[in-house]
Amino acid sequence: MANELIAPHGGKLTTRLVSEQARTALCEEAATLAKIVLGVRELSDLEMLASGAYSPLQGFMGSKDYHAVVWTMHLSSGLPWTIPITLSVTSEQAVGLKEGQRVALIDAQGSLYAVMTLEEIFPYNQINEALQVYRTDDPTHTGVQTLFRQGPCLLGGPVEVITLPVTMFSKYQYSPGESRRIFAERGWKRVAGFQTRNPVHRAHEYIQKCALEMVDGLFLHPLVGETRTEDIPADIRIKCYEVLLDQYYPSQRVLLGVMPASMRYAGPREAIFHALIRKNYGCTHFIVGRDHAGIGSFYGTYDAQWIFSEFDAQALAIEPLFFEHTFYCQICGGIASSKTCPHEVSKHLILSGTKVRQMLRAGQLPPPEFTRPEVARVLSTAMKVPVIPDLID
Ligand code: ADX
Repeated sequence: MANELIAPHGGKLTTRLVSEQARTALCEEAATLAKIVLGVRELSDLEMLASGAYSPLQGFMGSKDYHAVVWTMHLSSGLPWTIPITLSVTSEQAVGLKEGQRVALIDAQGSLYAVMTLEEIFPYNQINEALQVYRTDDPTHTGVQTLFRQGPCLLGGPVEVITLPVTMFSKYQYSPGESRRIFAERGWKRVAGFQTRNPVHRAHEYIQKCALEMVDGLFLHPLVGETRTEDIPADIRIKCYEVLLDQYYPSQRVLLGVMPASMRYAGPREAIFHALIRKNYGCTHFIVGRDHAGIGSFYGTYDAQWIFSEFDAQALAIEPLFFEHTFYCQICGGIASSKTCPHEVSKHLILSGTKVRQMLRAGQLPPPEFTRPEVARVLSTAMKVPVIPDLID
């Protein structure tokens, strides 16, 4: 049954989590190895590698793949891939390492997660990476800022993952193998994936349900890896989805899962990256709305849609579902876009995650045109905004 689903990127799921039997020997070996401390993003990348979500990658990128991805948006094999998956170290750390050796990958508390075969240690140009991947070297861009904080040397090589970080989202933590099994069990052939890093609002719901009109199932797949501190924390966003799904979605046609990767805020390039990851989870379609994975005014409203035309559609295989900027129209009395609404802009309520955050920070609850009352209640409790019943009921 599973074979009927879309093939993973590169043809097969490449998982890097070792078997129970191999675990003990690997732990013993790790105790004798040099240790590299991973940051939050690298740990989440490790989790993505372990589960097969980054198929066909086997580890952190070596120089051939790294340069191919930065300059051509493809791996050295020719497969599309738009975001470098890297592990950086300081020059001092790099001096103490040798190509060919094995290293243990640990977190800041010293917990062991993986062993890596260090195939390559190489320098890289952060400005080039910023200009190519983020289309800017402005250090106020969150992704660029993170890049500029990295060490000047990259370590490339395959990883053998011993264990996964424990998170509060285990209930929703499906690996690509698991989500594929569920899609197959439910008989879904056409599945739309939805990426999000913001609390769900009415425009999200509208485009998700438009997509659901066209496919068999909807895979709601909020990103729960690292985001900017001003973004709403993942546990609150998941609670918002729980109350919304309970009341407004057909449970047999929707699956809520979490995506452990960190946000890069790379706009167009990240839209392709997000789509390829969802292909690995078994999605045949991927929703791309306005300013997908954007930040501030670094990208144009539809840049993340236009970038898809730069790729061979067959090589991507997953089909993007593009949506216009949608808003609440006071005359239409519902969510609409410039494609469906003839009314003047002054009648439009613009919906965005930024707007939700601004309202909450100002002590206001988003009105029902903006956010379902059940979701507004979760946000008001979690963000300690006083509830004004008129606004949310
Ligand atoms: S993102 O960084 O994960 O893209 P967000 O959670 O706000 O941010 O968006 C999730 C998806 O919904 C993206 O595809 C985005 O383009 C789309 N989206 C968000 N708001 C709107 C809107 N008002 N109109 C159309 N698409 C939207």
